[in-house]
Amino acid sequence: MADYQHEDSLGLQQLEPSPVEDTPVESKDSYFGSTNDAGATTPPRGTSALGLSQHSAIWYLNRIQKYSSWAFTAFGVAHITNTAVIPLITRSVPESERYLLLTRPYYQGLPAEPLLITLPLLAHVLSGLALRVVRRNLNAKRYGDNEERAQKKSFFSSYFWPKVSGVSKLGYPFLPLLVGHVFVNRAIPKQYPGGQSNVNLSYVSHAFARHPVVSYAGFAALISVGVLHMTWGWAKWLGLTPDQVTEMGSDRQVAKDRRWYVINGIASAVIGLWMAGSFGVIGRAGEAPGYVGRIYNEMYSKVPVVGRWL
Ligand code: HEM
Repeated sequence: MADYQHEDSLGLQQLEPSPVEDTPVESKDSYFGSTNDAGATTPPRGTSALGLSQHSAIWYLNRIQKYSSWAFTAFGVAHITNTAVIPLITRSVPESERYLLLTRPYYQGLPAEPLLITLPLLAHVLSGLALRVVRRNLNAKRYGDNEERAQKKSFFSSYFWPKVSGVSKLGYPFLPLLVGHVFVNRAIPKQYPGGQSNVNLSYVSHAFARHPVVSYAGFAALISVGVLHMTWGWAKWLGLTPDQVTEMGSDRQVAKDRRWYVINGIASAVIGLWMAGSFGVIGRAGEAPGYVGRIYNEMYSKVPVVGRWL
């Protein structure tokens, strides 16, 4: 582990490199600019000639990562309402179906789907990866100046790479789970005549009835990992994670523990709600009968790897 990362043993907190232009006083020039040889005042670092602030790549990438997650939050709220809250209220899949169809036009098709889902997802994940590369290069520049460390400067050495946070560790497994879910519920039905109109909550009920192990395991993982990532992610954006506590001394650990329990408590409540609706109502509605059931079987057999056994 890099020696500049030894935060725990000293009780210090490691900070990610922050955009320097947020505090532009570090340069020898005054905050309001310096006078050049010709006597003209040059704008301070981080400010263009027009007086508009110019931010670093980290600043922009951070904001892309942050604001893209607002789109999923909007979609997530609609989705939990359709697939958990309404089924729990109506206690009936056919009744809940009507509400799903009502809200579908807001997130399926053009332009809602790319704007609300595909583009924010790409922006969120790619900005996260780009942030890592930029921060790694900044670390190498800042700390790679002595000989011993310079040897570790190779891009592939783990030495200068920023630590992967808990939120990111949840984000990466969330990605294949979400892509798998979208593939089964969106990409496969689209290949059939009538497309998405074939698919509704009874398509999911059918899977629970015919393939309980894969369905329960898959949805349990998707819901738990996804809700934990989103809840901890929001806590981070709001400055409320245990690592972001400002208390010092003996109160610090108490404050950190309290935050940990509150965040996990909220996540557990949301996971519980989602599972109650999806397992308790949708999961128990049984197979679709006749022709529709046969089409569903055919669709599920198209799922790669596990589809062979479905
Ligand atoms: C409410 C919605 C979401 C919020 C609030 C959120 C929040 C966050 C935050 C705060 C991070 C940065 C973690 C860090 O640097 O410590 C992050 C990273 C990440 N998120 Fe999300 N996220 C959301 C939705 C999603 C979705 C839907 C996916 C895709 C399945 C996703 C995948 C990822 C991945 C892969 C990373 C890691 C990027 C990296 O650090 O290298 N997130 N998210």
